[in-house]
Amino acid sequence: MNPFFLKTIVEALPHPAIILEPGFNISCANTPARKLFGEDLAGTDFIRILRQPDAVNCLNQAVETGKIVTSTLVLRLQTPRTYKASAAILSTKNENEAGDKTRAILFTLIDISAEIDAEKSRSTFVANVSHELRSPLTSLMGIVETLQGPARNDEKARERFLNLMQDETGRMSRLVGDLLSLSKLEAKEHLAPEGSVDVLRLIRHVTTVLVESKDAYKNRVQIDPPEDLPPVTADPDELTEVFQNLIENALKYSTPETPVHIELTHRPPGSAGSGNRGRVCVRIRDQSEGIAPKHLPRLTERFYRADKGRSRDMGGTGLGLAITKHILNRHRATLAIDSTLGEGTVVTVMLVV
Ligand SMILES: Nc1ncnc2c1ncn2[C@@H]1O[C@H](COP(=O)(O)OP(=O)(O)OP(=O)(O)O)[C@@H](O)[C@H]1O
Ligand SMILES: [Mg+2]
Repeated sequence: MNPFFLKTIVEALPHPAIILEPGFNISCANTPARKLFGEDLAGTDFIRILRQPDAVNCLNQAVETGKIVTSTLVLRLQTPRTYKASAAILSTKNENEAGDKTRAILFTLIDISAEIDAEKSRSTFVANVSHELRSPLTSLMGIVETLQGPARNDEKARERFLNLMQDETGRMSRLVGDLLSLSKLEAKEHLAPEGSVDVLRLIRHVTTVLVESKDAYKNRVQIDPPEDLPPVTADPDELTEVFQNLIENALKYSTPETPVHIELTHRPPGSAGSGNRGRVCVRIRDQSEGIAPKHLPRLTERFYRADKGRSRDMGGTGLGLAITKHILNRHRATLAIDSTLGEGTVVTVMLVV
């Protein structure tokens, strides 16, 4: 088999590919393979480089059967990653020729770590949704049984249980609504938003609606009068959802009666980190117990709660920040959450003008 020809073909393959001699010494490796295993591969014993019994089995089986043999390997090189390995015999033997003319083995690797992660996160997601639905459903089943049995003729208990049923069905309906929102957002994440939004007006409107919704939120939000702000490029409904969640989080997770400050500033084009279009920066500052540093990087994951019991008791679905992050990604905007235990949390959103 012409070695130059083989080398050219291997180099044209997009994934790590290595040609081995029958004794498993490396005869040539393409650029992705050299990136993975090191530059000076030619002539070295591949088994010693891999040190993986599964890989050795895969190669031996290919030699024995003459068929393409695949295997899943976890290689701990720079970082552990999962690969689909395949070994194929390259033989020049033709039907008229006598004897086995195995000349080389082609060993290739395809990185399947992303697929495995996606599958894991899909099954975690299904488990989380089921778990979130199970608790209101269990509670509803209990209430219905009580109403059919011991509380059948108890007027007062009936009233109380009906209120509880309303809370639980409300929680399920919010959960389904948020899940639908997430899946719609995922579908259009690559489409840039159209529309022009006056952020100060939008935040004032969101605040008014929130304050009306609960006595505990009254007279707590202070909006610092901003300088002149340019409109931002955004979808008004989506931006409303973002600030509804962020301002409500600041109100509901902070100490009662403490203020929530909202500060809006304009970063003109060319100023630090504002790109060539400029940014409007919204900073929401509360006086909560704060969030421990270990939670901060995970807050935008679906269903992640820093304080599980408290968030659920407050009727939260744990999807608010996941939705917020998706919307802001679509708007090419950024979200930063800083928190100090015992002091409070500052959430910063940078929107594109
Ligand atoms: N300002 C804040 N102060 C303290 N903790 C916060 C703050 N904002 C968010 N968190 C924590 O982050 C978690 C995730 O917030 P997120 O908005 O995603 O969900 P939620 O508020 O529990 O539910 P939902 O927004 O769907 O009603 C919350 O459960 C809470 O533990
Ligand atoms: Mg929330």
